[in-house]
Amino acid sequence: MQVEFVAVGAEPTNGTALAVFAFEGGTLSAPAAALDSALGGALSRAVAAGRFKGSKGQSLELLAPQGVEASRVLLIGLGPEADLNGAAVESGAASAYAAAKLSGATELLIRHPQCPTNPAARAAKAAFGARLASYRFDRYRTTEKADKKPSITTVKVAVEDAAAAQAAYAPLAALGDAIVFSRDLVSEPANILYPAEYARRAKELESLGLKVEVLGEDDMAKLGMGSLLGVGQGSRRESQLVVMQWLGAADPASQPIAFVGKGVTFDTGGISIKPADGMEDMKWDMGGSAAVIGLMHALAGRKAKVNAIGVLGLVENMPDGNAQRPGDIVTSMSGQTIEVINTDAEGRLVLADALWYTQDRFKPQFMVDLATLTGAIIIALGKDYAGLYANDDALADKLLAASKAENELLWRMPLPAAYEKQIESLAADMKNVGGRPGGSITAALFLQKYVAGLPWAHLDIAGVAWRQPSSDPTIPEGAAGFGVRLLNRLVADNYEG
Ligand code: BES
Ligand code: MN
Ligand code: ZN
Repeated sequence: MQVEFVAVGAEPTNGTALAVFAFEGGTLSAPAAALDSALGGALSRAVAAGRFKGSKGQSLELLAPQGVEASRVLLIGLGPEADLNGAAVESGAASAYAAAKLSGATELLIRHPQCPTNPAARAAKAAFGARLASYRFDRYRTTEKADKKPSITTVKVAVEDAAAAQAAYAPLAALGDAIVFSRDLVSEPANILYPAEYARRAKELESLGLKVEVLGEDDMAKLGMGSLLGVGQGSRRESQLVVMQWLGAADPASQPIAFVGKGVTFDTGGISIKPADGMEDMKWDMGGSAAVIGLMHALAGRKAKVNAIGVLGLVENMPDGNAQRPGDIVTSMSGQTIEVINTDAEGRLVLADALWYTQDRFKPQFMVDLATLTGAIIIALGKDYAGLYANDDALADKLLAASKAENELLWRMPLPAAYEKQIESLAADMKNVGGRPGGSITAALFLQKYVAGLPWAHLDIAGVAWRQPSSDPTIPEGAAGFGVRLLNRLVADNYEG
């Protein structure tokens, strides 16, 4: 799908779905009101005749309207006029795309309410919303009925200064590419995307100017990563640690910031095997690492002025004659020993070594890890909020601000030292599970033992990495690419220049 910026006066053709907007209460925005007069009042009559209230995401459709050269007119709700901003328009444009995509129209022309102060920025947001809404993972479809295929090939956004809007869109286009890259990885099945293939795709990003190293099992064994290696030892696929560097700061030797992701390309649970029902979901147990690689893609794509490290811990968790057993004791790179009570609590075992390696080698300003870590966070927060844990209030506040700005929701959770009792082991320094109470919290407390005196935050994204159904028009059903926008914003607002 192509995105273009066109003049405010640009006219639709007979293959066009023409989108205009209304506010809560049904008030038409200026472009909608102008269209309404051209249509002889058909839009306002349609509003009066139905239940369209202009609420966020609502839509109303006029087919083959008289008075304008368009196959259909879409009226999209933006919510309260007082809340009108770039984010509302982004979401509205996404809803417009969703309403038009299977209609047969080949072009979507968006006439959004122009921003009086920064029209280029708002038009760019409209284009971004439509772009995100158009994401689709269809590389394995060989037959599909014509009327099930999206028909929109071009999205046009009307704006006074098209060149200025195009320039404002450039960084969002880079971010969009990164989100699509991340969503594709999350969507890939585990027979295609196993650790070595994932590492190969990471390596390809060197073309963007990233430095990418891949450590195999021998390298990791030399480093003493017994915790990560134990998880992968039941798999035919070799475990990998991918280390990505984006050195965009004026001084390439200045202290970096670091991001670490759980990349379990498939999680059967191992010997503590999961039930069959829904196990296919565990192809997206690498969503944390997909956020990290997506961030690195975005930083390189927009040449961010920052030094950033991205580390991906890539393993497949399988039952096998060589798999680790419940009760096994492994030694992590930090030297701390772990009694593996449940082989399905594998994400924390991967992150323990990936976190330790990252701080040991790079001495970063801070570390943020992301992981589809626990079912318990879904019980606690549901499917819209990721859990945020942090040992540092300033870092937590920056993440919460970025979360708000990008509408990737976070809720801060506690790290009570008293709960560490739950992961005490009789035989080793700790065990890898703490029982059902506070399951996401004890997982975070486990990770904290692999952080030595630097600001750290952990995002448990098990509930938000995959949306089915989706409540957000910028995220079609399936892989969300959660975290890319959030982290990109964290960096842009706090660590560049
Ligand atoms: N990958 C899962 C967590 C998960 C569950 C992600 C549902 C997405 C959706 C993780 O490795 C896991 O299995 N966690 C266990 C931990 C338990 C054994 C302590 C869980 O949450 O049940
Ligand atoms: Mn598991
Ligand atoms: Zn897992």
